[in-house]
Amino acid sequence: MSMALRDMLASDIDAVLCIEQQVHTHPWTRGNFSDALASGYICKVAELDGQMMGYAVLMQGVDDAELLDIGIAAQYQRRGFGRELLEAMLALARELGRQRVVLEVRASNAAAIALYRALGFGEIGLRRDYYAAENGREDALLMEREL
Ligand SMILES: CC(C)(COP(=O)(O)OP(=O)(O)OC[C@H]1O[C@@H](n2cnc3c(N)ncnc32)[C@H](O)[C@@H]1OP(=O)(O)O)[C@@H](O)C(=O)NCCC(=O)NCCS
Repeated sequence: MSMALRDMLASDIDAVLCIEQQVHTHPWTRGNFSDALASGYICKVAELDGQMMGYAVLMQGVDDAELLDIGIAAQYQRRGFGRELLEAMLALARELGRQRVVLEVRASNAAAIALYRALGFGEIGLRRDYYAAENGREDALLMEREL
């Protein structure tokens, strides 16, 4: 079964938050998603058979685009959908003329880091103690991929 991608609507935020809160240790809030929509960021939801199972948010810069959030519902993980969704977001950024995609990720987020590496992202920096974490603070890895 193949994944369908469409623009995120304000009316999707409840369902998006449901997944976000399930899969993230420090989830985005409703306000974060409505701000992303209001700011014109590229916000997409991924559906399988009409059922939302993932989403991604990409912010456009001048030359680059920044992946701000991506999530796949727990029961759909490890089936290639995260890869497919991220590839679609990279293709969108390329079509919009962006030359690279950058992102920040928690140093402990092995699944996301593995996905990014698998899609050709490389580490370009480290932000020490960037995120709030369970026990204090946690580093952010900065990653980049040329398009
Ligand atoms: C990161 C995330 C989107 C990956 O989605 P997914 O649909 O499970 O990923 P895929 O099945 O497409 O995996 C693609 C590749 O990524 C890597 N990968 C994904 N999950 C992994 C895990 N738990 N452990 C190790 N590698 C993993 C593997 O290389 C995998 O390829 P393989 O299955 O052939 O080995 C998903 O784990 C998720 O929603 N996590 C919570 C939210 C999050 O952390 N988002 C990123 C920060 S904003």
